Amino acid sequence: MPVVVRPMSSAFAGEVFGIDCAAPLEAEDVAAIDAGMARHAVLVFRGQPLSDERQLAFTRQFGELERYATPGHIRKRDEERLDPGVADFSNLSRDGGLMTLDNRIWLFKLGDRLWHSDSSFRPVTAGYSLLSARAVPTRGGDTEFADMRAAYDALDDDTKAEIEDLVCEHSLIYSREAIGFFDLTAEEREHFRPVRHRLVRVDARTGRRSLFLSAHAGAIVGWTIPEARVFLRDLTEQATQPQFVYRHHWRVGDLVMWDNRTTMHRARRFDRNEVRDVRRTTLAGSSRGAGEE
Ligand SMILES: [Fe+2]
Repeated sequence: MPVVVRPMSSAFAGEVFGIDCAAPLEAEDVAAIDAGMARHAVLVFRGQPLSDERQLAFTRQFGELERYATPGHIRKRDEERLDPGVADFSNLSRDGGLMTLDNRIWLFKLGDRLWHSDSSFRPVTAGYSLLSARAVPTRGGDTEFADMRAAYDALDDDTKAEIEDLVCEHSLIYSREAIGFFDLTAEEREHFRPVRHRLVRVDARTGRRSLFLSAHAGAIVGWTIPEARVFLRDLTEQATQPQFVYRHHWRVGDLVMWDNRTTMHRARRFDRNEVRDVRRTTLAGSSRGAGEE
């Protein structure tokens, strides 16, 4: 039985049925999921408990994993809970206990509560991200996704013309400073110096334009910083109105796949005294199924 992708009635996302993500996929199933991603940009797979190895194997069927070096000050290698290739978005420290309030990683990752596109601060931005829920809090901790294609389509013609050729500067420093996290070393500031990406992207698969916004975007080439910041804030507000948003309420065993080139997302608040263990695998933006970079 081939996999089936069905649109959600209430949002732009799709849900995938008839699949076991822990088993190798047939080529036609990979193609059906890629086609579902091109159409929906966010796909939900319910009831898919995965080990890290299975999550990596599933992810690799859709392209090349993102690879980059993280400066040692954010999280030293010996502080990692998980193997390379699987990013830890939990509130657990290496010993399995809850992160404490003064944990630098916890504070740093609170930046994920702002609307963003994964790795927009890197020269090669992320393609698909896949987040697997291993443990979820009893309340809160949802993830919201916003459709940047629909948000673009809804802009008036004057705005579309104004932004067509704009280039933004993205840096992890911008999103961290936005939440008051200024505690960055000289090495981190050097590592995260701004990179440039076009504000309007054209998806080569569909021909659709989308807004490439992110909390990491903190400047527009040729604009003053204050003008750029208020403009980007306005655009983000417009682009994340409820009609463009899908809110995912996590259950253990959920896997959600999204395309960072055509969506933004943000994590929502939860009680930090409860465990939230979600793990992400990420494809580089030049992977198969990619739109224009
Ligand atoms: Fe993210």
